[in-house]
Amino acid sequence: MHTDKDVVSEERKYFLSVLQTFQSYRKQSMLRIEYKEKCLASLTDHHQKWLVKYKNDLEAFKKCIDKNANYIPIVMEHANNIFENVYSNENTSHSETEVGTLSEGLDKVQSVFKQLMRDWSSLGAKERMQCYDPIIDEIELEFPIAECARDEIFILVPGAGLGRLAFEIASRGFSCQGNEFNLFMLIVSFHVLNHCKVVNEFEVYPWIHQYCNNLSAETQMLSVRYLILLTIFFERINYCF
Ligand SMILES: C[S@@+](CC[C@H](N)C(=O)[O-])C[C@H]1O[C@@H](n2cnc3c(N)ncnc32)[C@H](O)[C@@H]1O
Repeated sequence: MHTDKDVVSEERKYFLSVLQTFQSYRKQSMLRIEYKEKCLASLTDHHQKWLVKYKNDLEAFKKCIDKNANYIPIVMEHANNIFENVYSNENTSHSETEVGTLSEGLDKVQSVFKQLMRDWSSLGAKERMQCYDPIIDEIELEFPIAECARDEIFILVPGAGLGRLAFEIASRGFSCQGNEFNLFMLIVSFHVLNHCKVVNEFEVYPWIHQYCNNLSAETQMLSVRYLILLTIFFERINYCF
């Protein structure tokens, strides 16, 4: 039978694995490219000559991955303090190095980069308009500002991802809670909501790991900047997790 202590310990262990997975992003991503380079190198010289552009592209992909990786320590800086009630440093018998990385973790880190584009960059504006505006319009219609105290209306956003919809609802005066169980998303949304203060400060390469549905290698290397909002109006708000 599992005791409460076992559950806390397992959760802490999982949390540390997520941190380890974030930290392994550069190494794991480079290994994948190096594997491609190794395959390329195994071809005959004659065939390799046909693939010079591909070889150069792989070199350029590494530079983009490196830039994505530079962003990880910035996110990690506050990760240990994101939850008010659990996961504090004292609350553990595990160490980060002991727990290892998650096998599915690299894909999750990659999807966070895409989600940053969708939720917090200007390039994601059209997609946000299509997905979030109908919800926001409906809420505005249901609770007109002149007819209710918006802070007394409690709205839940299930599966909140990187928190943009929850942020939009809260910024219209409602009491809003986003519900999300993916720690990769939670750690990055904590960074975005509580620690990003400068417009377009960060540059990431959301499609760098995507090898299909690209018109060219150059589209794979497109970058986006976030955060697009002036968070100055929300400076005094602490978004709780
Ligand atoms: C398709 S994503 C959508 C994210 C965001 N709402 C958006 O529109 O960009 C679904 C999200 O729901 C989260 N999710 C799925 N099941 C959940 C559950 N049972 N509890 C909390 N979060 C959940 C996933 O981790 C994921 O981030």
